[in-house]
Amino acid sequence: MELVLEWQDVSYTYPDAKAAALAGMSLRIPKGMKTAVLGHNGSGKSTLFLHAVGILKPQGGRVFCGGKALDYGRKGLQELRRAVGLVLQDPEQQLILNTPREDVAFGLRNAGMDEGTIRHRTESALARLGLLELADRPIHHLSLGQKKRTALAGVFAMEPEVILLDEPASYLDPVSERLLLQSIGEIHRAGVTVVMATHDMDTAYSWADWIVVLDRGACRMQGPPDTIFAHKELIEELGLEMPLLADLWDSLPVGLREGRPVPRNTEQFKAYLANDLV
Ligand SMILES: Nc1ncnc2c1ncn2[C@@H]1O[C@H](COP(=O)(O)OP(=O)(O)OP(=O)(O)O)[C@@H](O)[C@H]1O
Ligand SMILES: [Mg+2]
Repeated sequence: MELVLEWQDVSYTYPDAKAAALAGMSLRIPKGMKTAVLGHNGSGKSTLFLHAVGILKPQGGRVFCGGKALDYGRKGLQELRRAVGLVLQDPEQQLILNTPREDVAFGLRNAGMDEGTIRHRTESALARLGLLELADRPIHHLSLGQKKRTALAGVFAMEPEVILLDEPASYLDPVSERLLLQSIGEIHRAGVTVVMATHDMDTAYSWADWIVVLDRGACRMQGPPDTIFAHKELIEELGLEMPLLADLWDSLPVGLREGRPVPRNTEQFKAYLANDLV
């Protein structure tokens, strides 16, 4: 399994904090996959991401990108940020200029690209995220979901190898969430490794190919979704809920589910009810 990012025994305590935010964090992000990062509030998800782009530097242990230990020099960080894009939880912290078009172009200009490339990449990122109609609206007139898509467009335009999304769907209504997940799916199909921190177990279960579970600054489990959610007791002990579909599946008598593939989404579950159950 080829890795894009790896944390080896990373520890980090924020200035003035009593407890460590990361305490011996060791985890791996496989290349080309969709990874969901799960964990209760304060378990270290955002801190983990800030280490992937070198905004925070480990006080112990090391972070690797593409098999190489991070280089925190100016050039090293420039290179790192070209390879790894981070979409912050709060788009207000990420968007700087007045309109989506200006904001997306700004990041590219900052990275030193020529005007032709800037124009081309800006238009294609706006189109990919379904933002062409909103491209010249003042950002402060956009809804939260539209702002989140704009922040993602800005990161996508940089054409990174991996995009980290910190709770991209939080506070979105179901329609905006579906739109955003569709966009993320398209970005993944374009060849980008996608990593998403989320509290939504149902989304994680149906969306991810790889899941990591954090608890108090350390990684407690990593693996494919059906393996992770086969550990119901541990999931609950770590303050998380079982995905509804996994829980329903688990409640079926063994004879009805033995040897069958576990349904990962409602469509698969319905197909099972309609075809296999009888
Ligand atoms: N800027 C900061 N200064 C001091 N402590 C911080 C800071 N940011 C986070 N922490 C602490 O570090 C720990 C990990 O926080 P982090 O934000 O990484 O968790 P999280 O898993 O992203 O939580 P959430 O689900 O609420 O977003 C928490 O105990 C938090 O209180
Ligand atoms: Mg967080």
